Amino acid sequence: MTVPDDGWIRDIISPVTELTSIERRRVDYMDYLMGNEYQLVGLDAGFGNLPVDPYTDGNFRFRRFSTFDYRNNAVSLLAPETFMQSSDLNAFLGDVERTYEAIEEITYSNPLFTEMFRLFDEHTTIRIASHVGVHQIRIFKVGDHQMAPEGRHQDGFDRIAIYMINSVNISGGHLRLSLNQHDDAFLDKELAPGDYAILNDRKLFHNASPIELIDETLAGYVDVFVLTAKEHAVT
Ligand SMILES: [Fe+2]
Repeated sequence: MTVPDDGWIRDIISPVTELTSIERRRVDYMDYLMGNEYQLVGLDAGFGNLPVDPYTDGNFRFRRFSTFDYRNNAVSLLAPETFMQSSDLNAFLGDVERTYEAIEEITYSNPLFTEMFRLFDEHTTIRIASHVGVHQIRIFKVGDHQMAPEGRHQDGFDRIAIYMINSVNISGGHLRLSLNQHDDAFLDKELAPGDYAILNDRKLFHNASPIELIDETLAGYVDVFVLTAKEHAVT
């Protein structure tokens, strides 16, 4: 399919610091942005200590989840909250109230953790402030399990941000973006460690291409953070 060229979709692969002022203005009008901040790979410390996600079959997905406030370029951990998506959005786990163990201090006290929020806030037209959800996820390639079993979907927020922290012995898993649930992806992009994508979750559907082990005799996994935000008035 062809993407309607109405000016609101941009694809910028560039270190953010290298964007020209014109490109920065364009960022305000686009519905997704892709960039790379390789230093974010330094956020990998807590991924080896993730508990298994109890809401998926088989021990292939590990996760922590917490919500944070972000203001004055600082994050503060909020009291534990459950996480739920409607069955409209998630045919696998819709309407299930999910409780996850909290993100550890070793992770959220790292200045790079705050940097994820800063990037998220800088590159969206909404202000990222309160109740930003953070999913810290390690997904192993086991059997037929895939990164996004629900297929093309939305997460149910105004904006989401995906940060690829690490990929070990995995091929595939490209980020795929579609304009609706039925059309093929207009974008299929590999996310290397340090790459991130910020999406308008109201307009776009996302998915991941199938993942495979590069060396079948070794374990393979990807480590990602997914940040979710709704538009809130800053108080
Ligand atoms: Fe998603």
